[in-house]
Amino acid sequence: MRVYLDNAATSFPKPNEVYSSVLNYMTNIGSNPGRGGYTNAIEGNKIVLNCRESLMNLFNFNKPENVIFTSNITHSLNLLLKSSIKDGWHIITSSMEHNAVIRPLTSLQKQKNIEVDILPCSPLGIIDINLFKKSIKSNTKLVVMSNASNIIGAIQPLEEIGKICKDNNIFFIIDSAQTAGLIEMDFNKLNCNALAFTGHKGLMAPQGIGGFIIDDTFNEQCSSFIEGGTGSISDSIIQPNFLPDKFESGTLNAPAICGLLEGVKYINKLGIDYISEKETSLTNRAINGLLNISGITVYAHDDSVPRCPVISFNSNKIDNSELGYLLDSKYGIMCRTGLHCAPLAHKTIGTFPQGTIRVSFNIFNENNDIDYFLDSLNKIVS
Ligand SMILES: Cc1ncc(COP(=O)(O)O)c(C=O)c1O
Repeated sequence: MRVYLDNAATSFPKPNEVYSSVLNYMTNIGSNPGRGGYTNAIEGNKIVLNCRESLMNLFNFNKPENVIFTSNITHSLNLLLKSSIKDGWHIITSSMEHNAVIRPLTSLQKQKNIEVDILPCSPLGIIDINLFKKSIKSNTKLVVMSNASNIIGAIQPLEEIGKICKDNNIFFIIDSAQTAGLIEMDFNKLNCNALAFTGHKGLMAPQGIGGFIIDDTFNEQCSSFIEGGTGSISDSIIQPNFLPDKFESGTLNAPAICGLLEGVKYINKLGIDYISEKETSLTNRAINGLLNISGITVYAHDDSVPRCPVISFNSNKIDNSELGYLLDSKYGIMCRTGLHCAPLAHKTIGTFPQGTIRVSFNIFNENNDIDYFLDSLNKIVS
């Protein structure tokens, strides 16, 4: 038996519709969207536009051209941060962020005259709203935060953070890597200026496609960053300033965009509420089971904190990398061990430098996967 429990890294399997649409594009369409006027090129353009519209609807936005494609959320966050941040800005983020936020900010601090505050979160991984309010200064221009932690799944109160940002004229960027497609995310309710996403996790697309939605006000702060061919105004040697071309130089990953379109359709077919309920139920089953295994510590599992389907734990008997190896080699259970690209988050919950074992679920997991995992773990540690 093989059981995949590493959906926070990338979701697997994907819906069959995703596989067949990728194959269909590669075998029957094959064109480079935006780069030709023949039938297949127009077909490619239509798929790209459909995908922009479906993402726009999923996140309750209203302008498809403001949905920008990149190769993943790391690319999106780098682009948003590096093309907007200016000398003199004070930027706030949290100690639960992935290195996709922390590393670009760290390198920007060396290149520019900026201040970055990484606010400490509680051991449950939650930002302290009062501390956040107190940290705002007259030159605070940007807040960047993930919707949920990739190590413990804790969901941040982003609507509240967004409201405070809006009231104080602070730009707000959201990293939706662990929540897009899993819980409702409404661009307007979140009061954000940019929502970065990655295709290959909850949105069920292949790897190599991501993007962001940006509002017009924040777009004005951003330069084009990567420049080159866009298939538009080719007579000019200057990068177009209109969206999406301003940010989309070079060939798009059209097969993956087909897969992303089908992933979003699949999410709509099931409904976010159904997805969210099923994954919460799997997560609760796993947490309750883990708490009943002697010597296992589950981190930050307090019921008061809403969460997405990501759990971190350790055993007091076996080191997490060895335990991960045994789960895979003896029982076919695939999960991730270590620091999961979020060292500061591990410092926050007290698991640095050893890290944790992380299990994370998707809509295709069933109760018997959880029970098999718990039973196998029990056999290893007892
Ligand atoms: C919260 C968070 N942000 C960013 C990323 C980076 O995602 P990608 O590798 O798709 O760029 C991840 C991936 O694990 C994540 O969990």
